[in-house]
Amino acid sequence: MSESKPNLLSLADIEATRRPFVEARPLPGPPYRDPRIFSAEIETLFLKMWLCVGHQSGLSSPGDYLMREVGDESVIVMRGDDGTIRAFHNVCRHRGTRLLDDAVGTVPACISCPYHSWAYGLDGKLLTAPLMDEVEGFDKTDYALCPVRCETWNGFVFISFDPDAVALVECFAGLPDFSRFGMERLELGARHEYEIAANWKLVCENYGECYHCPTNHPQLNPVSHFRSGGDSFEGDYFCGGPMRLNDGCVTMTVTGQTTRDPIEGLGPDDLRLVHYFNIYPAFLLSLHPDYVLTHTIWPGAADRSVIRCEWLFAPEAIDRSDFDPSDAVDFWHVTNEQDWAICERAQKGVQSRSYRPGRYQSLEKTIYFFDNWYLRFMETVLSGNCNGDNG
Ligand code: FES
Ligand SMILES: [Fe+2]
Repeated sequence: MSESKPNLLSLADIEATRRPFVEARPLPGPPYRDPRIFSAEIETLFLKMWLCVGHQSGLSSPGDYLMREVGDESVIVMRGDDGTIRAFHNVCRHRGTRLLDDAVGTVPACISCPYHSWAYGLDGKLLTAPLMDEVEGFDKTDYALCPVRCETWNGFVFISFDPDAVALVECFAGLPDFSRFGMERLELGARHEYEIAANWKLVCENYGECYHCPTNHPQLNPVSHFRSGGDSFEGDYFCGGPMRLNDGCVTMTVTGQTTRDPIEGLGPDDLRLVHYFNIYPAFLLSLHPDYVLTHTIWPGAADRSVIRCEWLFAPEAIDRSDFDPSDAVDFWHVTNEQDWAICERAQKGVQSRSYRPGRYQSLEKTIYFFDNWYLRFMETVLSGNCNGDNG
């Protein structure tokens, strides 16, 4: 008797998304709701690829850290006394206890384990271990926190759990050159965190189209028309494209106006555009004339995600005594909440066994890129189990 395989996705469904754009169908229901597919995504995508944890300016002083969770893994990303940003597994080397709980924080001189008080320096080295000098052959240098790969790209800090992951710079070689935005010198102006009841891919897909904007974002159309998108394009590790600001508008705020100057060095085209990119799997980078907004999406379960936003500004803008990021923050906070509400509603729909995908509208080309990237990366897991219809 042959061993029965789990039925993850039908070959017909995979092929339907892979057809040429004008004939293709969006992803079917199981990738949004099946916990087995969710686990496979964690293993195949999130524990293999580079994940952006935030901008380096959010870790401005020694001891500043971010804590991120991916599946069963938890990582501390911390600036050391020497200024270097490093990443470690959030796991004590004595008997494994989790060390830090907060997503953002600062430790004073060391990380102290809450169980038996082993203490680690900001570089991960074990500094003190109470009474362990009584243990024969115990050598502190053998028990530093286990490192996680950590690299920066344009000022953004990325981690990878995969020691064999292609170097970050190589992954992003095909991305458009945005060096004129000077992203490495931008500074954190605001942060927001959201927890939503929707699959991480729904959030990425929603970001990739403005077909939903007239219905869901009444404040957005007066600033940037929903059909103003230029050609979207893709590479191995990204998809995205620009949208145009309406005449008379200089950035994305409620009024389309701001007191901030544009980021120095931008050309005339950049002053009329907002560039929206999804860097796979789930780093959403939105380049405005006077600020940069990022979303990082952290999958919690098939139907649950945490989304973290950062608003970054030029140091000249932040240094001004009248600096006030609220026009940019409030605008996108309102837009975010509208997006999360519709994503949660979409999740409820795709949970239904009755769901069958329709067709892509022409404004949804970026989603087609995203969905096909997803299938390319998940193919082995998904199509290796194609033994029935699971639509
Ligand atoms: S488990 Fe951390 S000090 Fe014992
Ligand atoms: Fe939206």
